[in-house]
Amino acid sequence: MTEAILLVGGKGTRLRPLTVHTPKPMVPAAGVPFLTHQLARARAAGVEHVVMATSYLAEVFEPHFGDGSDLGLHLEYVTEEEPLGTGGALRNVASRLTSGRDEPVLVFNGDILTGLDIRALVRTHADAGADVSLHLTRVADPRAFGLVPTDDDGRVTAFLEKPQTPEEIVTDQINAGAYVFQRSVIDTIPHDRPVSVERETFPGLLADGAHLQGMVDSTYWLDLGTPQAFVRGSADLVLGHAPSPAVPGRRGACLVLDGATVAEDAKLSGGTAVGAGAVVGTGARVEGSTLLDGAVVEPDAVVRDSLIGAGARVGARTVLDGAVIGDRAEVGPDNELRDGIRIWCGARIGAGAVRFSSDQ
Ligand code: GTP
Repeated sequence: MTEAILLVGGKGTRLRPLTVHTPKPMVPAAGVPFLTHQLARARAAGVEHVVMATSYLAEVFEPHFGDGSDLGLHLEYVTEEEPLGTGGALRNVASRLTSGRDEPVLVFNGDILTGLDIRALVRTHADAGADVSLHLTRVADPRAFGLVPTDDDGRVTAFLEKPQTPEEIVTDQINAGAYVFQRSVIDTIPHDRPVSVERETFPGLLADGAHLQGMVDSTYWLDLGTPQAFVRGSADLVLGHAPSPAVPGRRGACLVLDGATVAEDAKLSGGTAVGAGAVVGTGARVEGSTLLDGAVVEPDAVVRDSLIGAGARVGARTVLDGAVIGDRAEVGPDNELRDGIRIWCGARIGAGAVRFSSDQ
């Protein structure tokens, strides 16, 4: 049976302030730490043994997931003393793998939400006789990504850094953050220093003539690295647009966890998730948003495509649109916060203090 490594040690800087107290894979999406969805999907694909490569805020993973038996998995944790990067992290957990030299090992980035057919990736790898196989996804605007062109047989021909000019956009295929490695390849990654699998290991293997196979799969795919993407991913899980066996409830317009209080005339829509102990006041409208545990939305507030951190408070009549409110922050009544604004954990904003439009 295939085993897997989950890379969950990144600092998650793009997602701050949500990642100030919580590592990115542990931020709740659709009611459970995001990582739960990935673990459940791996289990459903037949994976039984998962090694978690941890670094930043490493201590929070094991108390939550334990030995993995609740998910039907055998989980192990390995913590880097200094962050070793995505490649160094793989090498650092190699001693925990049980696969033989010529057997495949799955590797997942800990921040990708996808409907990838994991078994198909493993099959593609075996059929191609590849050293490493990569899940590739097509994006409409590849400028922000490293490109991975392939030949007619799906074999990777290059790894190209973020394209700067239209001529450099030779493909719309990008690295989707799920791989199958031959175990022996992991053993060749240098140890005791940081290594980037994307920038060093993959281009190095290609230059040495290794066989890297790409599998383009156009199912649901989202990198939850930014607040906007995270909120979108959580909403898509609640709506059922993104597949996961771990959503704690029925798919639909909203997911309200046990212990939350939602006023009868409040409107929840667009895949909104309301965490345990959270409160939504009378007349409030919450659309496509995530309220973490204990968050409070006061009466007549309007919240759209936003993320409200644990224990944070949003005042009456305040409008949030594409905003992130850090844990335990307090936004007073009659504010208007839009367009990717990030309110830091514990910050306080007075009544009517911030607007993006006239108050008339
Ligand atoms: P940003 O800081 O916002 O770019 O996020 P990130 O730190 O998560 O980096 P990135 O999205 O590039 O990381 C891809 C995956 O690799 C994520 O699942 C990270 O948790 C993981 N990762 C990144 N760096 C390390 C590392 O040094 N050690 C380990 N164990 N995992 C890492």
